[in-house]
Amino acid sequence: MLQTAWQWWKHAAAYEGHLRATRRLLGVLWEYTRDSTPERARLRFGDADYDWDHRVNTTSGAVAWRDRLLGMFHSAYQPTEPAAFHEMLDALRQNTNLDFRDFTFLDLGSGKGRTLLMASDYPFRRIVGVELLPALHQIAQENLRLYKSEAQKCFELEAICGDATDFPFPGALNEEPLVLFLFNPFGESGMRRVCANLEQSLRARPRAVYVLYHNPLLEHVLSESGALRKLAGTQQYSVFCAGD
Ligand SMILES: C[S@@+](CC[C@H](N)C(=O)[O-])C[C@H]1O[C@@H](n2cnc3c(N)ncnc32)[C@H](O)[C@@H]1O
Repeated sequence: MLQTAWQWWKHAAAYEGHLRATRRLLGVLWEYTRDSTPERARLRFGDADYDWDHRVNTTSGAVAWRDRLLGMFHSAYQPTEPAAFHEMLDALRQNTNLDFRDFTFLDLGSGKGRTLLMASDYPFRRIVGVELLPALHQIAQENLRLYKSEAQKCFELEAICGDATDFPFPGALNEEPLVLFLFNPFGESGMRRVCANLEQSLRARPRAVYVLYHNPLLEHVLSESGALRKLAGTQQYSVFCAGD
C-alpha cells in the first residue's frame, strides 16, 4: 500500500511538483475517509440489483478497504449500470452496421467483470477484460465461472490481470476487430498511453475498432487522436470509430 502511494506521489510530483502532488495525496486520503462513513458504504450497495438478479458479486459495496484505498490511487471501482450499458450497445448498433459476431469486446479496467457478463448477452466473437487490482480480478474470474443467463450468447470470456496502459494489444487482440470499452479507468496520462497503443496497433493491422467511452470525462484525449472519429454520444457516453 505504502509503495503504491509512494509511486503515485513520485509520478504526480514529476508532472506537477512536490507541493501540488502532496496536496493531491492528502485530497485522496480525505476522500477515502469521507467515503468510509456508514452512510456512504450503504450508498455503494445501491448498485447491487444486478448481483441479486444474476447471483454474482459485482457491487462496489463489497470491496475490501485495502482495495478501495488502492483504487483511489488509480480509479475507484464502480460497475456500469445495466441500463447504461445496453443503451451504449444500442447506440453502437444504430450508428454502424457492425455484426457483433465479427468483434471482440475488450474492457480495459474491467473491475469485477460486470461488463464482461453483460456483453456476453450479445453474440460477440469473444470477450476479454483487463483489471489492475488482483483482488478484483479474482472476483471477476469467479463471476465468469458463476454467471448463468438464458440470454447468454457468447461463452468465450477471459479475465486478465495487469496494467492496461502497458497493454499493447498483444496476440489476437492486435488483429481482431474490437469494441473497446472504457469507463474512466485511467487519468489523462494513462488515457494517452492507451491511445498511443491503439494507434500503433491500428497502424500494424488496420481494422474496424469502435470505442465505447462511458462517462467521457477525458473525451478530448480520444478526439485529439488522428486515428479516431466520434460517431455519436450523450453526456453519459461517446462512441468513436477508427477509420472512415
Ligand atoms: C470505474 S471502474 C470500471 C469497471 C468496469 N469497467 C465497469 O464498467 O463495470 C475502473 C476500473 O479500472 C481499474 N483500473 C485502474 N487503473 C487501471 C490500469 N492501469 N489497468 C487496468 N485496470 C485499471 C480500476 O481498478 C477499476 O476496477
